[in-house]
Amino acid sequence: MALLRIRKYPDPVLKIPAQPVTQIDGSVASLIESMVQTMFAAPGIGLAAPQVGDSRRIIVIDADHDNPGRRVLKLINPEIVEIEGKVTWEEACLSVVDYSAEVQRASRIVVRALTLEEREVEIEAQQFLAVVFQHELDHLDGKLFIDRISRLKRELYRRKLQKLIREGKVPSYDSFAAET
Ligand code: NI
Repeated sequence: MALLRIRKYPDPVLKIPAQPVTQIDGSVASLIESMVQTMFAAPGIGLAAPQVGDSRRIIVIDADHDNPGRRVLKLINPEIVEIEGKVTWEEACLSVVDYSAEVQRASRIVVRALTLEEREVEIEAQQFLAVVFQHELDHLDGKLFIDRISRLKRELYRRKLQKLIREGKVPSYDSFAAET
């Protein structure tokens, strides 16, 4: 089992919409296990496959603060089937270096997904867990939480990030220059 390299904004792979998994085979199982280990090592509470450079619709979540590692959600082709309410939460991301911001999300959702055993599950999530789900699902659509903040805040962050890149703390990507 290998720890995977977590891709950081503005790595272009983070913008690519992920494709549905059509066959749950050994490569999916091994990707999920590596994602779980990578999430623990980071440490983080959620990780989506595009964050490790794999454009398949897979997420792992470990959002139980009191019992870390006890109930890790490993979900394939997750989709939101119910959505309601509003909540604002301070979000951060393993792929967005040195930044957090308040984002408005739905306060309650129901997610339908497949497990590694090819079982269909429905999970109801509220408040914090609902936020985590929506954040990870966004990754599968090529979106980051900084796409959901104001243009001004995003621009301030991009300037800060350019400084970090100049200082060699974050790798540089061609796409960054193109967008600026
Ligand atoms: Ni994230």
